[in-house]
This record gives sequence, C-alpha cells and structure tokens, in this order.
Amino acid sequence: MGKGKNNEKQNGQEVKRETLTTRQGHPVVDNQNIRTIGDRGPATLENYHYIEKISHFDREEIPERVVHARGSGAFGYFETYGKAGDEPVENYTRAKVFSGAGKRTPVLARFSTVAGAKDSPETARDPRGFAVKMYTEDGNWDLVGNNLKIFFVRDAMKFPDMIHAFKADPVSNVPHPQRMFDFVSRSPESIHMITFLFSPWGIPATYRHMQGSGVNTYKWVNDKGEAVLVKYHWEPKQGIRNLTQEDANAIQAKNVGHATQDLHEAIERGDYPEWEMFVQIMEDGYHPELDFDPLDDTKLWPEDKFPWLPVGRMVLDRNPEDFHTDIEQAAFGTGVLVDGMDFSDDKMLQGRTFSYSDTQRYRVGTNYLQLPVNAPKTAVRTNQQRGQMDHRDPRESGENPHINYEPSMLGGFKENGAERPPHRPTYNAAAMSAPIDRPNNYGQAGETFRSFEEWEREELIKNLSDALAVCDPSIQDAMVEHFTKADENYGRLVKEGIGQKMKELKEMSAEQTIPGRESGQSKFGQGT
Ligand code: HEM
Repeated sequence: MGKGKNNEKQNGQEVKRETLTTRQGHPVVDNQNIRTIGDRGPATLENYHYIEKISHFDREEIPERVVHARGSGAFGYFETYGKAGDEPVENYTRAKVFSGAGKRTPVLARFSTVAGAKDSPETARDPRGFAVKMYTEDGNWDLVGNNLKIFFVRDAMKFPDMIHAFKADPVSNVPHPQRMFDFVSRSPESIHMITFLFSPWGIPATYRHMQGSGVNTYKWVNDKGEAVLVKYHWEPKQGIRNLTQEDANAIQAKNVGHATQDLHEAIERGDYPEWEMFVQIMEDGYHPELDFDPLDDTKLWPEDKFPWLPVGRMVLDRNPEDFHTDIEQAAFGTGVLVDGMDFSDDKMLQGRTFSYSDTQRYRVGTNYLQLPVNAPKTAVRTNQQRGQMDHRDPRESGENPHINYEPSMLGGFKENGAERPPHRPTYNAAAMSAPIDRPNNYGQAGETFRSFEEWEREELIKNLSDALAVCDPSIQDAMVEHFTKADENYGRLVKEGIGQKMKELKEMSAEQTIPGRESGQSKFGQGT
C-alpha cells in the first residue's frame, strides 16, 4: 500500500496520498466504477467493496434525539474556585470537582434547541438545552439544563404530551401554534415559561450569549452527610444577547445553522467562550414560609433570599474533531451524579432521570457508555457485560477475569461500602398521584412580565398576539385569562394585540396572493 503511484501534484508540489482502503484493510483499486459484466452491466453480487460501501452508507445515521435533536458542542474545562461565595465549598458538598481552588476538570458542553429536527433552524423560538458533562476524578457528572432557568411543567407525566403538542401535527406534519397553546391553556403552570419564551429570551442570539441553568433542584451533601438543596446557573462572560423575531427572521433567511457556526468559529479563532457557575443554596425542607414549592421547576428562587454564589468557571477551548463521534453520540443524563451530590424529590427530576439512559440505549446502543465521549476518564470496573458492540478492554477485567459476579471470595471487583450515599429522609405519606399543594401558577409569571425592559415587553405581546391570532377563540380566551391572572396589564395587552392582529390578517387575506413564480414563467428545464 502507499506505493509511489499514489503521489500527486498539488500546487506544483509532489504530495504523498495514502491509499484508500476497505474497512477490512484491503486497498481500493477502483472507487469510481461498480463491477459489471462488460462495461454496460449488469452488476455482480460479488462486488464486495461496492456492497460494503453502500450498505454502510445506508446505516450512516443513528436515530436523532427525540427532543433536543438540533445541537452543537465543544470541549473545555471547568475550574473550581474551591468556594461557594465566601464559604469553603466543602461546608456544603464533598464533591471533589468543587474542591481545591484552581483545579480543572475536563468537560464537554452541548447546546441545543428542543422541538426541531436535527438540521432545523437555530433561530427557532424554543428553549435552548445547556448540557455539560464533567469528566471528574470520581467519574462523570452531567448537568442537563436549559437557558431559561425554569420549565413548562413540573410533573414528568406531562412531558410526552407537552412535546407532542409543541411538534407538528401528526397527520399533516404541519406545525401550528394552536397545538402548543391548546396544551398550555390547560396547563397553567406553563404561563411563567411561556412569558420567557415569547419574549426575546426565547431566541438567544447565539449559544455563546446565553445563560444556562440546571433548572431542577438537586442536593449537595457534605462529608458529615448533611444535605442542602441546590440550583446551578451558568452566566456567560460574553454577555447575554437575545433576538427580536425580526432579527431572527433575517438570520434564518440566510443561515439555518448560525449558532453552530458562531460557536465553532469563535473557538477556531481562539476566542474561547466562558461561563461562570453559580449556585443557589436552600436548607433542605418544605419551606412553608415560601409562596412556592422549592422543588417546583416552574419557579425561580428569588435572588434576594437565595443569592447566586460563584463556584467556578467553564471555558470551551476545543472543537469536536468529528461531529458524529463527539456530539451526535454524546449522551447526557440527570442520573449521572458523583459522590457529594444527590437527587431532590423534584418530580420532574425524578421522572426525567429514567428517560435519558433509556433513550440512549435505543438511540446510540446498549454499550453507549463505552464510546470515548461518554466513558469516564476514571477506571470502569463493572460486571455488566456483552451486548451489541461490546468493546471492553479485557485487560481491565481485573486480576481474576473468571469472576464476573459480586460478592465473591475468589476475587473480582468488590463494592466500596465506605462511600455509601447518605440516607435521604422521605415524608411519611401514602403513595398517590397528586398535584403539589403550592402551585402558585401566576405569581412569578406576573413578576417576570413586570421585570422586562419595555422593548422586551413589547416584543412579548407582539409575539404572543401573532401566534394566538391564528388559534381557536376558546384557546385565545383561556390564554388571555391566564395572562390576566398573572398581571392585569399583561392580559389586556395580549387581548388587544390579538384583536389587532386578527384585523390585519383579515385585511391581508382579502388581497392575498400565494408567493412564488407563475408556472408559465418558470425557467426550470431551460438550462439557466
Ligand atoms: C434531551 C427526556 C425534561 C433538558 C432529552 C432526551 C430525552 C429527554 C429522551 C434525548 C436524550 C438523548 O437522546 O440523548 C426528557 C424527559 C423530561 C425532560 C422525559 C421530563 C420528564 C427536561 C428538562 C430539561 C431538559 C426539564 C431542562 C431543564 C434536556 C437537554 C437535552 C435533553 C438539555 C439535550 C441533551 C444533549 O445535549 O444531548 N430529554 N427531558 N429535559 N433534555 Fe430532557
């Protein structure tokens, strides 16, 4: 292989070109012509190279993520400050990723939109996923959140319906805002998130210019076994920039992948994006003094009561070497915690934790955790074995590879009783399917509406009015009622906006022409 005849002249210089091979390592002699009887065919079945080439191409795509399919990512590091605000971080958590000021942990971050398909426009009005995998010295930690700090629903049971409503009609595959508002009008806990989503915060200018948040409530556990509730946030050092619908339309007309391009090019030119990580900490418990449930992911924790404490920073300084290998096959999940962290009883967190690894076994494959992007940088010693594409290194199967079970007196791996997670108190209550007792669906939605700058409020009203104007009147009325409960002014402005937009649409429909070229003027087939 690699004989001299592969050399070629490139810009006047003799350049050595490696020989193309099959996946069996055989040199490819002819990559242009299939093997046929005579020069005009028919083709032969023994054409191994051709059949391998096409059959592999036929399987090139894995299923896209059922949500968050459109995304982009990069590698970098997390550097801990060793403190949470002014206090040593060890007071709250024994997680090693946060201890020892200046210590760096390698990370992979993936940003995404939610509802669109793998190549859908990145200008969509949609929450942005903000997922970070930290390859810590204690194994992997994934923080899988979004840019808006809260979520639409608080009970995992509602997630599949919510996503169906947000995606296109299953019959026609046509998207329509009525589907979303139909669902939302019957799910008033969504009003807070809808208020963010239809404001400019619903279209971040780029991935580099958006915040991130773990959204759900987790626990931190210190070495005395004491737990606190914790929420994580990421603040971009680049600043926060959002788009109006008009800005987004203009970008989308020219580029459906502007955010991926922006992230990739910034890292290529050495302008590494950076986010500071903050935590909010709350004593573990029910907190009757609050007008919301601390485990309700549709709520913000007020900053004046629960200040944002800086704990570290993340820098992304390396682009993926191959998008499929490093980003498409990356698998994040909320169950992936390390010692010093725990789940809270947040019902959404509990529900989603099952979903991630379940979908990844289907989307990527049973052994998805063996892929380099998903494997921890620490040793993996497990008796879980086999399955399709099992690629374990037999040298890592311990001193006695015969013992693939535990416990054993003969060898094999042994559980580490020393790092037993702390006991988590649970409430003395009957098992039930019931809503939480402090839903407070409107309070924070109103506060968020009033906190917006004027241009943000105007944009919110316009975007909601445009979308609701094409919905059924029963849905319009229900939504106006919800907005009014959040803030009277909010409801009034949306109602007026819908009326105005419907009038405009009526006038337009009277004189509407379908855009496009008349067929008589088509140049198709004229070689131009
Ligand atoms: C991705 C399920 C709630 C953020 C996914 C995926 C599934 C899923 C199946 C695709 C994962 C993959 O194929 O690798 C669920 C369920 C939820 C839920 C069942 C609720 C019951 C949430 C919430 C957030 C969120 C509340 C934000 C706080 C994300 C992100 C990704 C994702 C960021 C993309 C991860 C990546 O970049 O690969 N979710 N999710 N999800 N979800 Fe959720």
